Amino acid sequence: MGSMNKIGIRGDQEVTMAELMRGHGHLWNIIFSYVNSMALKCAAELGIADVIHRHGQPLPLSVLLTKLSIPPSRADSFRRLMRLLVHSGLFSSSTASDEEGEAYALTPNSASFLVTSKAENMSPFVLAMLDPVMVDPWHCLSRWFVAASEPPTAFDLFHGKSLFELAGNNSELNVNFNSGMAADASFVAKLILQQCGDDVFRGLRSLVDVGGGSGTLATAIAEAFPQTKCAVFDLPHVVASLQGNPTVTAIAGDMFEFVPLADAVILKACNWILHDWNDEDCVRILRNCKKAIPPKEEGGKVIIFEMVMKLENEEDGSIHDETTETQLLLDVHMMAPVPGKERSEAEWKSIFIAAGFSGYSFSPILGLRSLIQIFY
Ligand SMILES: C[S@@+](CC[C@H](N)C(=O)[O-])C[C@H]1O[C@@H](n2cnc3c(N)ncnc32)[C@H](O)[C@@H]1O
Repeated sequence: MGSMNKIGIRGDQEVTMAELMRGHGHLWNIIFSYVNSMALKCAAELGIADVIHRHGQPLPLSVLLTKLSIPPSRADSFRRLMRLLVHSGLFSSSTASDEEGEAYALTPNSASFLVTSKAENMSPFVLAMLDPVMVDPWHCLSRWFVAASEPPTAFDLFHGKSLFELAGNNSELNVNFNSGMAADASFVAKLILQQCGDDVFRGLRSLVDVGGGSGTLATAIAEAFPQTKCAVFDLPHVVASLQGNPTVTAIAGDMFEFVPLADAVILKACNWILHDWNDEDCVRILRNCKKAIPPKEEGGKVIIFEMVMKLENEEDGSIHDETTETQLLLDVHMMAPVPGKERSEAEWKSIFIAAGFSGYSFSPILGLRSLIQIFY
C-alpha cells in the first residue's frame, strides 16, 4: 500500500513512491553504465577470452585465476567482474563439476570478437576507443558546449589539438588508433565482400580508399579482385606503415585538398570518414571525390559505408531497442573526439546534392552501417 502513496508532483502529475524508486534505479543504471565499458576494457587487457579459448571450456575460476596470474586475494573481485561480463552476454557461467565454484565459457560474442588469434578480433578497437586519450575529453564536454573560444571538439579543448593532429605527433596514439580502426575494418571488409563485393567492386579498374587508414579494407578488396588497382589515401603519418606494401599503393595527402584519380572512391567510416566531419567539411571532401572519378556512364562512383540514422518509435513513443541506442550513442560520441555526427537518409541526401552528385542508392545490408553509392 505504502508504494501507492502519492508523494510528489512531476509536472502536473502526482508521483508514487514506486515510480520514484523506479526512476532512482534508472538514474543509477545510467550513472554506472560506463562500468560495462570499463569491464569490457579490463577483459580485453587481461586477455580473458584468449585464456578460456586456449585452455578449454568451461574453465573453472581457480584455473582462470592461475592462468591470468591473479592472486587468490583478488579472486572474489574477479568473480564479481566475471558476473557482470556474464550479465553483458560476453561470457557464460556454470557450476564447475569439481565443486570449485563457477566455470566460464565463451559466448558467440566473445568467441567471435575477443579472441585475439581470430580474424574478427575487436580487442584493439576496444582498447583504442577506451584509451584515456579518447575518454578524458568527455570530462570537459559541458565546458566545450559553453566555451567562449569555440574549439571544434571536446578533444581539442582537452588536448589542445585535434585527434588527427595529435596522432601525427604521438606515435603510440597513432599505432593504437590505427590498429583499432584496422581491427574493425577487418571484420567490416569481410562483411562487405560477402554481402555486396561482386555487385560493388567487380569490373572496377582502379579504386582509392580515402582515409583508408592502414589499408585493411583496400587490401581485402585487392586480394578479392586482383584486376582492380587499389590505393590507400591518408595522412602521411598513417600511410607511412604501408610504404613498400605489394598489394596496395600508399598515397599521402589531405582529402580537403585533393583526392587521387580512380574509377571509384571509397569512404568507409569504420568510425569516422564522413561522420567525422560537419556538413560543410563533408561537402568539401565529396567535391574532391567527384573531381577524382569519371561520370556514372563511365563507371564512376563514390562508395560510402556509413550509418544511416533511423530512430524507430515503439508503440508507447519511446525508443529503446539496442540498435537505436547504439545509433544514439554513436551520434553523441561523434561530437567529442571529432566534429562529426550520424545522419539520417534525408541529411545524407542533402550533402550529396550540395556536393554536386545527382544519383544515390542506400542499401542497409551491413548491420550498423549501410552501403551508399553516389554518382554524377
Ligand atoms: C576513423 S579513421 C578510419 C580509417 C579507415 N577508413 C577504417 O575504416 O578503418 C579516419 C581516417 O581518416 C584519416 N584522415 C583524417 N583527416 C584526413 C585528411 N585530411 N586527409 C586524409 N585522411 C584523413 C585518418 O588519418 C584516419 O585514418
